Amino acid sequence: MDNKLIHLDGIKACVFDAYGTLFDVHSAVGRHRQRLGEHADTVSATWRVKQLEYTWLRSLMREYTDFWAVTGDALDYALDTASINDKNLRDDLMQAYLQLEPYPEVKGVLQQLQEAGLPCAILTNGSPDMIDAAINSAGLNDLLQHALSVESVRIFKPDPSVYQLAVDALQVKPQEICFQSSNSWDAVGAANFGFRVAWINRFGQRRERLPAQPDTELDSLLPLPGLVAGGAT
Ligand code: LAC
Repeated sequence: MDNKLIHLDGIKACVFDAYGTLFDVHSAVGRHRQRLGEHADTVSATWRVKQLEYTWLRSLMREYTDFWAVTGDALDYALDTASINDKNLRDDLMQAYLQLEPYPEVKGVLQQLQEAGLPCAILTNGSPDMIDAAINSAGLNDLLQHALSVESVRIFKPDPSVYQLAVDALQVKPQEICFQSSNSWDAVGAANFGFRVAWINRFGQRRERLPAQPDTELDSLLPLPGLVAGGAT
């Protein structure tokens, strides 16, 4: 992995993870922070950790259910851990997940990539309804050519069949795709599949000790257009 600003040659499309990369998953709890009181941050963190763990475990168990159901199960675990039993709050938190805040640089970066002639897509664990709602709420529809969901392969990231969805939809080679994820395990999974990868290390994490490494590490999406533009010939 190279932490300097490098240029990735030959990129023909940019593919983005959704949750944590484009959309701030903690903005759901952020909307209802007062109702959660002192438990707000731990509920949000537990919700996210359990959501991801359940995707990995369900994939290993061959027990796929969609990401909306997984997200609800994870929230129930998190609220139970905090001894909160409030159905209205539970419903409001799930509703907030359909209207997550995009990170501040997202729209501008997608616009720059569009102007540079690079098609952009989302590739997400999210179920189609969930991701469509988040895209609509953030006003990103016109900037994305595809919103690709694991729903069609019924297994979660980092199964390679998920990353193949982007290759098939965009009709380019894996090494012509630059994939962005703030989720380090997703960045590694995508690099292992054969994408060029920018790990958007928003939370200052250490690098994973897993096969394959991202090509570069950024602390936001802002430098991305300079990294990939010019390769779409
Ligand atoms: C996604 C999860 C990994 O959007 O954040 O696929």
